[in-house]
Amino acid sequence: MNSDKAIGLIDSGIGGFTVLKELQNYFPNENFIYLGDSANMPYGERTNEEIIKLVNEDIKFLEDRDVKFIVLACNTASSLADRLESNVRLFNIIEAGCLSVLDLKEENYIGLIATRATVHNRSYDNALKELTDEIEFISYGTPTLAQVINNQLDEINLLKKNIKLAIEPIIEQHPIKHLLLGCTHYPIVSKTIKEMYTNIDLINPAIMEAKLVEDYLIKNNLSNNSNESGKTEIFITGPEKKTNKRLLNELEINYNKLKYIQ
Ligand code: DGL
Repeated sequence: MNSDKAIGLIDSGIGGFTVLKELQNYFPNENFIYLGDSANMPYGERTNEEIIKLVNEDIKFLEDRDVKFIVLACNTASSLADRLESNVRLFNIIEAGCLSVLDLKEENYIGLIATRATVHNRSYDNALKELTDEIEFISYGTPTLAQVINNQLDEINLLKKNIKLAIEPIIEQHPIKHLLLGCTHYPIVSKTIKEMYTNIDLINPAIMEAKLVEDYLIKNNLSNNSNESGKTEIFITGPEKKTNKRLLNELEINYNKLKYIQ
């Protein structure tokens, strides 16, 4: 396989920028094609059948652009990874999320915020059980937080209210020291969450995801060995949004193309 091919990324919107950022940091010479399906988000409020149909279309979009493999940045899409159709390898961010908490063995309970679909599908609980029986997630599926971040990022009071609505139900069940951000959108507002919950450490699965991708690239001899910086193309479904460009700049993501598609 040609190692110059791009790595594909799928998210239900702009949340996956937080995964793209980690991957770009790790692999400055790789090419990336990112698809964010903002027009159809929130995936987390859809039925499993709807999510599978949309993600299969996302996969096809990237396969048509000849990517070497696909990172399912979106946790909601990853929660149904077993039921997706793909001709290339799919990286599932839930695996990375579970591996990220394994070293926290002194904790019995780790908080997990995610979309309602992700929590409902129990993929985080099942994947963690495969790895350890010493830790359990206390999860809460929030219906609104991802959407507020995707579409109303500047409305700080609304954002804080929705962060509180997502985290309080977890703390009410059990005090936690660590909170896994089980949706790509949440690391965008890490700073705000940290200001509100100073005693809780936040875990972003994207960091472990980059390590898993690195292992795979090396083992399969798929690294792009070009000396030039990689190129990144970003496709977002739906109308143009100014805040998307601003977020890309804030996250210091390099991109060569940002295209809105229908
Ligand atoms: N970004 C998606 C995730 O990681 C969720 C947002 C949505 O509901 O579309 O789960």
